[in-house]
Amino acid sequence: MYDLTGEDVPPALREQAAEFLGDEDVPFERYASEDVYEAEVEKVWAHTWQWACREERLRGADAKIRAFANCCPHRGMQIVGSRETGRGRQFLRCPFHGIFFELDGRLREIPCRWDFPRVQEENFGLDELPCDVWGGLVFVNPDKNASPLAEYLDGQEI
Ligand code: FES
Repeated sequence: MYDLTGEDVPPALREQAAEFLGDEDVPFERYASEDVYEAEVEKVWAHTWQWACREERLRGADAKIRAFANCCPHRGMQIVGSRETGRGRQFLRCPFHGIFFELDGRLREIPCRWDFPRVQEENFGLDELPCDVWGGLVFVNPDKNASPLAEYLDGQEI
């Protein structure tokens, strides 16, 4: 345990003092390991609320903020590039075969419809993910079964 005997230590820090687990350097291999990366994605990032942007950067036509997996339901193409934003768009378009989606994730249009006989229009929207706002910060969770953001934030008011 840290020594919290100093005069100016706030009471809350005394209550929540963590056990000292050492301060040795973390081996470089840990940062470059494919196995560690995959374990972090599987056990942490795929189930964690992650900050995405400030609320004021978003303006939806129906004033609802939504998040979608950035992946086309047709062949899995990335819909919005890493240097692009969805801001100011009136629709989303997959760059591979040009299928259009509404900003609420619904299918909008399939160009050359005859070329996609297996696409079932009623089940062909973007994959919506849990999304919520706290203090003007927009959070997204890749896990559809995630507990609500408020619960994750330990009861912080939303
Ligand atoms: S992969 Fe997106 S339209 Fe085909």
